[in-house]
Amino acid sequence: MSCMRVAVYSTKRYDAEHLDAANEGHGHSMVYLEPRLTPDTASLAAGCDAVCAFVNDDLGAPVLERLAASGVRLVVLRSAGYNHVDVVAAERLGLVVARVPGYSPHAVAEHCVGLILALNRRIHRAYNRVREGNFSLQGLLGFDLHGRTVGVVGTGTIGRCFARLMVGFGCEVVASDPLPSEECRGMGVRYVDVEELFAMSDIISLHCPLTPETHHLVDAERVATMRPGVMLINTSRGALVDTSAVIDGLKSGRVGHLGLDVYEEEADMFFEDLSDVVLRDDVFSRLLTFPNVLITGHQAFFTEEALTNIATTTVENLSTYERGEALEHRVVPPPG
Ligand code: NAI
Repeated sequence: MSCMRVAVYSTKRYDAEHLDAANEGHGHSMVYLEPRLTPDTASLAAGCDAVCAFVNDDLGAPVLERLAASGVRLVVLRSAGYNHVDVVAAERLGLVVARVPGYSPHAVAEHCVGLILALNRRIHRAYNRVREGNFSLQGLLGFDLHGRTVGVVGTGTIGRCFARLMVGFGCEVVASDPLPSEECRGMGVRYVDVEELFAMSDIISLHCPLTPETHHLVDAERVATMRPGVMLINTSRGALVDTSAVIDGLKSGRVGHLGLDVYEEEADMFFEDLSDVVLRDDVFSRLLTFPNVLITGHQAFFTEEALTNIATTTVENLSTYERGEALEHRVVPPPG
């Protein structure tokens, strides 16, 4: 039976429960660690064959060098995105990296719809009002989603799923992706240039990966081209959006609603209970003051099905590597 010793970083109880269940019959030795992986905590993986990491773990070259020097051979990500990994450095160091693609596109797509409906109908405000005995409707006016134009940036696994849901609402869905999907075209989605998408959409949802090319895809220039009152949803990665530019857009009214599940500087905040400490991020604090901004703390993936699939694929990645077989979900550096 295969058995690898695995340092599991950023472990929460729900991670350990799902990984233990998936590991039954595989017999890997899981070392559960609460801290995030950083240059300071990399030494905790000493004596392990593999490291298991999540979205806010640091997998830059300095950390990878320390891991490789201590004998780690494999990095298994409990995520689909791998923008936090220096894949070129990993390749150079002989470290194999594997991820969990498409573990539940429904989880993320459905969360987007949740943000859209809540923002549009001000459900977050209505919830508090009714609890306070305030039944006034003033300020809660929404709009019909039916007939609105929704722009989907990136029609990969999640974007396609989201597009289907919005088609179901009777929206006109437009999309931009260097690799258009026939499945999307088949459901009536029209591909347009990204500039056109930003100019014509009432709701824009980001589903492309974070790369040097997509960093600050939504910047001040782009905000200026968007429809007045546009709704912007980002459940992909924080750095797709220049937050200061969007704050200016919210102040001027150009951005009418903002729904975020990710934030550029989330690494020091998200997934932790910080309710007892003073928030030091002034940009994030400013975002929290707007009534038309709804932020969730990177929870779009967080469904029972997704956690089960993440754990199952992670353990399969470990076992496949240990058997010396080719890893289907291996992450390799881009060509060139
Ligand atoms: P995917 O790899 O299936 O699809 C990404 C799509 O984006 C591809 O079709 C690709 O061609 C397209 N793309 C690349 N560059 C583009 C550009 N410049 N403009 C437009 N499209 C572009 O990825 P998947 O599984 O759909 O995930 C998308 C992103 O969602 C991930 O990269 C990850 O960052 C994020 N995510 C967030 C989660 C959360 O809990 N908030 C959970 C899972 C993923």
